[in-house]
Amino acid sequence: MIKKKIEDICNRQVEREGFSSNLYLAMASWAETNGFSGVAGWLYAQAEEERLHFLRFIKYINERGGKAVIPELKMPQAEYKSVEDVFKEVLAHEEFVTNSINEIVSLTMEEKDFNTQNFLQWFVMEQVEEEASVRGILDKVRLVGANNMYQFDRDIMSLRTPPANAQAGQ
Ligand code: FEO
Repeated sequence: MIKKKIEDICNRQVEREGFSSNLYLAMASWAETNGFSGVAGWLYAQAEEERLHFLRFIKYINERGGKAVIPELKMPQAEYKSVEDVFKEVLAHEEFVTNSINEIVSLTMEEKDFNTQNFLQWFVMEQVEEEASVRGILDKVRLVGANNMYQFDRDIMSLRTPPANAQAGQ
């Protein structure tokens, strides 16, 4: 049975993963309506991944005898200055999520909850990959500059990395 403290912090993460999905949808909508269909495709795919993270936490909490709470989500930012601005925000958000996952790992150590610690290992790896992938994209955006955005937009989907160790359906 999951301890209340762990259940609560996992529910906090349910909200953060749900928000991540909506945030990337808002960015995708901005990109799509500003002529960046490739960037939009990347963000839509990322939003789907975040939805799977959201589900993973929901199912884990319930599986351990807790109750996942489906939260109200705050409205994400809808307007961005540029593609670079979007990816700066993606990176800042992923760093925030990494810290959030690390806080849960730290609490599971204090509480000696080895099951949850084990569950979180996938997220620890996933965050390393997501941050690295977004840093790589941001470097490229800066390299190509505003004038070559057309080519960048065409090629961005080839920069996608699959989820950590591709354990599908878990
Ligand atoms: Fe689910 Fe990208 O953090």
